[in-house]
Amino acid sequence: MRLQDKTAIVTGAASGMGASTARIFAAEGARVLLTDVLEDEGAAVAAEITGAGGEARFQRLDVTSEADWDSAVAAALAAWGRIDILINNAGISGSHPDRLNVDTWDAQMNINAKGVFLGMRPVIPAMQGAGGGAIVNISSISGFVGQDYVHMGYNAAKGAIRLATKSAAVQYAPDGIRVNSVHPGIMPPMRTSKLTADPEIRAKMIAAIPMAREGGVEEVAYANLFLASDEASYITGIEVPVDGGYLAL
Ligand SMILES: NC(=O)c1ccc[n+]([C@@H]2O[C@H](COP(=O)([O-])OP(=O)(O)OC[C@H]3O[C@@H](n4cnc5c(N)ncnc54)[C@H](O)[C@@H]3O)[C@@H](O)[C@H]2O)c1
Repeated sequence: MRLQDKTAIVTGAASGMGASTARIFAAEGARVLLTDVLEDEGAAVAAEITGAGGEARFQRLDVTSEADWDSAVAAALAAWGRIDILINNAGISGSHPDRLNVDTWDAQMNINAKGVFLGMRPVIPAMQGAGGGAIVNISSISGFVGQDYVHMGYNAAKGAIRLATKSAAVQYAPDGIRVNSVHPGIMPPMRTSKLTADPEIRAKMIAAIPMAREGGVEEVAYANLFLASDEASYITGIEVPVDGGYLAL
């Protein structure tokens, strides 16, 4: 199995790409700490994984809370003694109809950008103690290009993830810690999507994709799996679009 004996923390694991990543990681032998603000849904995904013979736990973690991060890291270390993988996946949509809304900018920066940094803050020392690890930060095609229907705060936050990832990759390579970003394209709508969940708008967005379809959550999860595994042992600081060719156009 590709993640045998590894321990992973996945944020935003109650839903979408985070849930898919947690399921696939557990099936590949990882012990997975699923985290989210949605407690019932997150616990249900963890129960489904353990019911299928995998090893998983759920803990509530709001990615904007330093205290939540500290207790999640402490829980993973108490249970399993090490953290090998962090998937910084939690996020909120930027498809807010009011493009100039200030609260939206702040929420984007706080959850989508700062939340990723707050995750690396306690996990990197744990990985240093264990002799290395792999971090995958989930950005978006929105970290590369501007888009209609998306608040500029989302693009800015996802762009911040892209560069923070490279910075961490450079700074922690000597500790054996690899840090990469994954950039999903047009995927099933997020729980918080507004404009981009509208069927007419989605049809226009999908028409701009060379592969002419939306992606599946598992297609992103498998990119996460590769980057988190030892198969990617010489890969750090890169950006992996999973977008059906959107950025190639
Ligand atoms: N769906 C898309 O089209 C798309 C495209 C590109 C990138 N992304 C990114 O992929 C990631 C996963 O998105 P998804 O499509 O699975 O969406 P989703 O809405 O299904 O899942 C996101 C999860 O993050 C959780 N979350 C939100 N705020 C949180 C917080 N403060 N603390 C902890 N958890 C929180 C939510 O409860 C939810 O379970 C996000 O970072 C998103 O920005 C999504």
